Amino acid sequence: TSAQIGVTGLAVMGRNLARNFARNGYTVAVHNRTASRTKALVEEFGHEGDFVAAETAEEFVAALERPRRLVIMVKAGQPTDAVIEEFAPLLEPGDMIIDGGNAHFADTRRREKALREQGIHFVGMGVSGGEEGALHGPSIMPGGPKESYDSLGPMLEKISAKAADGAPCVTHVGPDGAGHFVKMVHNGIEYADMQLIGEAYQLLRDVAGYTPAQIADIFRTWNTGRLDSYLIEITAEVLSHVDEATGKPFVDVVVDQAEQKGTGRWTVQIALDLGVPVSGIAEAVFARSLSGHAALREASRGLAGPQASPLGEAEAAAFADRVEQALYASKIVSYTQGFHEIAAGSEEYGWDIDLGAVSAIWRGGCIIRAAFLDRIRAAYDARAGLPSLLSDETFAREIADAQDDWREVLIAATRQGVPTPGFAAALAYYDALRAPRLPAALTQGQRDFFGAHTYRRVDRDGSFHTLWGGDRSEVSA
Ligand code: 6PG
Repeated sequence: TSAQIGVTGLAVMGRNLARNFARNGYTVAVHNRTASRTKALVEEFGHEGDFVAAETAEEFVAALERPRRLVIMVKAGQPTDAVIEEFAPLLEPGDMIIDGGNAHFADTRRREKALREQGIHFVGMGVSGGEEGALHGPSIMPGGPKESYDSLGPMLEKISAKAADGAPCVTHVGPDGAGHFVKMVHNGIEYADMQLIGEAYQLLRDVAGYTPAQIADIFRTWNTGRLDSYLIEITAEVLSHVDEATGKPFVDVVVDQAEQKGTGRWTVQIALDLGVPVSGIAEAVFARSLSGHAALREASRGLAGPQASPLGEAEAAAFADRVEQALYASKIVSYTQGFHEIAAGSEEYGWDIDLGAVSAIWRGGCIIRAAFLDRIRAAYDARAGLPSLLSDETFAREIADAQDDWREVLIAATRQGVPTPGFAAALAYYDALRAPRLPAALTQGQRDFFGAHTYRRVDRDGSFHTLWGGDRSEVSA
């Protein structure tokens, strides 16, 4: 038997991806460093399709039809390099190594370049949707050489999630690291979405006085409207869950320290390098890290806050509607920032990424899947080269309608002392972009004063310096 695809690394994501290929009619070679996992997979799920269990790397490679398509699903970082080192010498020109882990795109670029020299096609492939997605259809973001997509693409289209209109949630994102870059930004947006939802929850609880169960119902209602999304849906599930041992809301028995594996942080680090303001995503990453500073939080517990004054019932319902507006407007801003980062990465690395196509493949399968993504696609389809999602007429109008409530929610949050860094950063971004003048002019003046760093004028071309320590006349610089 020769397998059309092979998967090495059979932890839950790899195992489910292998099963997905098999369930779609492909013969799948499977391999794992410890062979017991390979055996377990075939014993448990062998009836689902055609698997070829390989014990050694040599057996695995020999089981694959040529050109070989070898998917590696191991921990990002050193383990990925180790697996590549193990398999690359066994491969031939034209064969493909597909890395489905959450690799850093810079690593993917390095690996792609090294393997290209050996004639091996390296495809860095973002996969989103968690274990369920991997099994039933993830959103897939492959990069690497375009020609690899000719033979790999149809297989990925088959196993991927399908959007509501039936379109497969996969596209060739761009060369070398483009796929992993887009997956990284996907995760940054995921962090921001989660933070914004968290802030909405906290406001509904602390300002409006709702219980977690009531808030779950509110989220369920929101999920029938424009916020319709996987993350809102699961939020309602988590909030309505009751802890068996204590009978308390589950959310009250979980330690409130959010963890992270790094992709959100990378999104912000790279945005800093590219000079892209992703303030909402950054606040989401910082909020997670702040939550984890247990000692610092403990030491700060006695600090003064405002007098809390909970809302009455009628006011609470009206406030909940406002929070929906604030959440939606802030969400538009997060996506605006995320897509700006993708555009900037595409420009920097010459990837030529189609932003509309990216939003289209996020419509199904992935963690941030939402009806909303269809509208982003429509915005980019309506105007290629849209400078920002905020310059799309529909989004601009929606924010215009939401902004009064958005501001009111932030006023209430401030008055009651509920931290809302995501909502606040999003509004500040919006207000800064639409401002006719920014205090950046003053910053330039200060820089020129203390360091003769020069400035440009609004009325004349050129660079100038004021002789601050002398007669304060202006000279051309
Ligand atoms: C996905 C997820 C998945 C994972 C992230 C975030 O798209 O399927 O993004 O990749 O949830 O790595 O994990 P952390 O919250 O632990 O950083």
